[in-house]
Amino acid sequence: MCGIVGYKGKREAYKIILDSLKTLEYRGYDSWGVAVIGNPSISVVKEVGMISDADSLINNTKITKGTTGVGHTRWATHGNVTEANSHPHLSTDGKIAVVHNGIIENYQSLRGELKKKGYVFKSDTDSEVIPYLIEDFLKSETGISFEDAFRKTLYLLEGTYAIVAIDKDSETMLCVRKDSPIVIGVGDGEYFIASDAPAFIEHTKNVIFLENDELVAFNGDMKIIDLVTGKKLSKKPQVIDWDVEQAKKGEFKHYMLKEISEQKETINKAIHQDNKVIQDIADAINESYGTFFIASGSSYHAALSASYTFSRIAKKHINVVDASEFPNYEHFLTPQTLMITVSQSGETADVLDAVKVAKKKGVKIISIVNVMGSSLMRNSNYSLLMNVGPEICVLSTKSYTSQLSILTLLAYASVGKLDEGKALLKCVANHVGELTDPKVLLDTVEVASYLKDKEHLYVIGRGQSYPTALEAALKIKEVSYIHAEGFAGGSLKHGPIALIEKGTPCIVFAPNDETKKEVLSNAMEIKSRGGYIIGVSDMDNEIFDYFIKVPDVGHASPICDIIPIQVLSYYLAILRGCNPDRPRNLAKSVTVK
Ligand code: M6R
Repeated sequence: MCGIVGYKGKREAYKIILDSLKTLEYRGYDSWGVAVIGNPSISVVKEVGMISDADSLINNTKITKGTTGVGHTRWATHGNVTEANSHPHLSTDGKIAVVHNGIIENYQSLRGELKKKGYVFKSDTDSEVIPYLIEDFLKSETGISFEDAFRKTLYLLEGTYAIVAIDKDSETMLCVRKDSPIVIGVGDGEYFIASDAPAFIEHTKNVIFLENDELVAFNGDMKIIDLVTGKKLSKKPQVIDWDVEQAKKGEFKHYMLKEISEQKETINKAIHQDNKVIQDIADAINESYGTFFIASGSSYHAALSASYTFSRIAKKHINVVDASEFPNYEHFLTPQTLMITVSQSGETADVLDAVKVAKKKGVKIISIVNVMGSSLMRNSNYSLLMNVGPEICVLSTKSYTSQLSILTLLAYASVGKLDEGKALLKCVANHVGELTDPKVLLDTVEVASYLKDKEHLYVIGRGQSYPTALEAALKIKEVSYIHAEGFAGGSLKHGPIALIEKGTPCIVFAPNDETKKEVLSNAMEIKSRGGYIIGVSDMDNEIFDYFIKVPDVGHASPICDIIPIQVLSYYLAILRGCNPDRPRNLAKSVTVK
């Protein structure tokens, strides 16, 4: 969580950093801050709240002009949401400014040592120890450089970090990563640092992906050092295939609606995945002695849904485990096991941890991931890029349907029917185009208006629609804050039906498959107890109080079925006055366990 940026070049740093932070706001939006090296000192601005509300601060008078600076947008871990806890943190002499993403696990003991030396802490954060430690090395070791003081500081830190630090005296900017993301943009005589490339693609698409324990010093030019061997490294920038417009809202009011509307195109991207790559992964699944799909949140729902597709099409069992629970499965892993991780960001801590556990057992790791150069990609034996472009809204929408599409192709390929899978997805993409037509989107406002003041809402589905029910409930609750729960239709009678009272809304997924009859019976049980039934189906039914029509696309129905609920979630957020792009307490990449 948290987004960090750095800039060193020839232009005014403040404006560039503000713009970059706005792009990274999805990583955390409790507070933000910027520090720029100026004259006579480093100037700092910090605010509680969202950077996107900070337009009036573009000509901030507190910030002096300068061409080197750092910025931070925070998702609070240690310490409340206050200005004092916001980054950047300064050394006591004000000559060093630091931004940090990650967690310094031994910060309490480091704080204790620094306090004994007379350092007075202004915040409750773990990060504030970093500038003080650098300062302490600079003061206590004669002739030591900023870079060496930084390096010595790193040796003391335990935990995860991406850090950018600037020093007024040497006008140097340094950055490093250990298990937290950081990428470098190489421009013409200027350098950009960010947690994620969309922060600077407006300025350059030439990107260097750092490995753990690589330190980069910027002072005129750029020097990369391997902290383990002490050797200088030469790394060539890679060109990132994302364009500036993809990272902007364009004519849309929110990224969420924009990304929902992009799904025809992103499913088409899935169809155009390289046949050989898909076939190779499908063959690896067939050859493995047990395959695990590992993911979190919506990606987990996509993986769970795909396990039904594998069962139906390939009669193959896939173990699907929520990444945070995966360590409990380590006893069942052998070098013949295959792990397929599914993650938009490629930075989800639980998924990365699961990979660590699996690697120790010699398991082969294949990742389906959207962000190029992400930690997951670097830690996998093989990665398949989703190519959906940046997903900026905190909610997964286009990445979810892309994951479903790619996993569906894998299921078809595993029985030698890749072409059939691709043909099915072409049909899905066309239907998705209809479902996301601006006029059709607006139809959902009616049911959203009916639901907007409800406190609870339930979603049911059976078979392949069960994961869709879980995903639908997640979408609704995370963006509108209405309490929504997804259940398997068959589990209702085992408890949840006690929650149904007069007027309780229940969304029922009733696709044209073997589950239809039974899920309609479950819907009837709810209706008999006063529930209000919103049916998502290819055909209307007298049980439905409200009908949402979706196409019948066979095994790929979960892809189309979720779309009206993504749209419903969006309008629920709007009608309830919530920000759909920035739900409270959430961050896009969950980089803490
Ligand atoms: O980047 P990942 O796909 O690994 O993220 C997993 C979850 O954190 C993510 O899907 C989350 O649940 C979203 N808020 C869902 O909309």
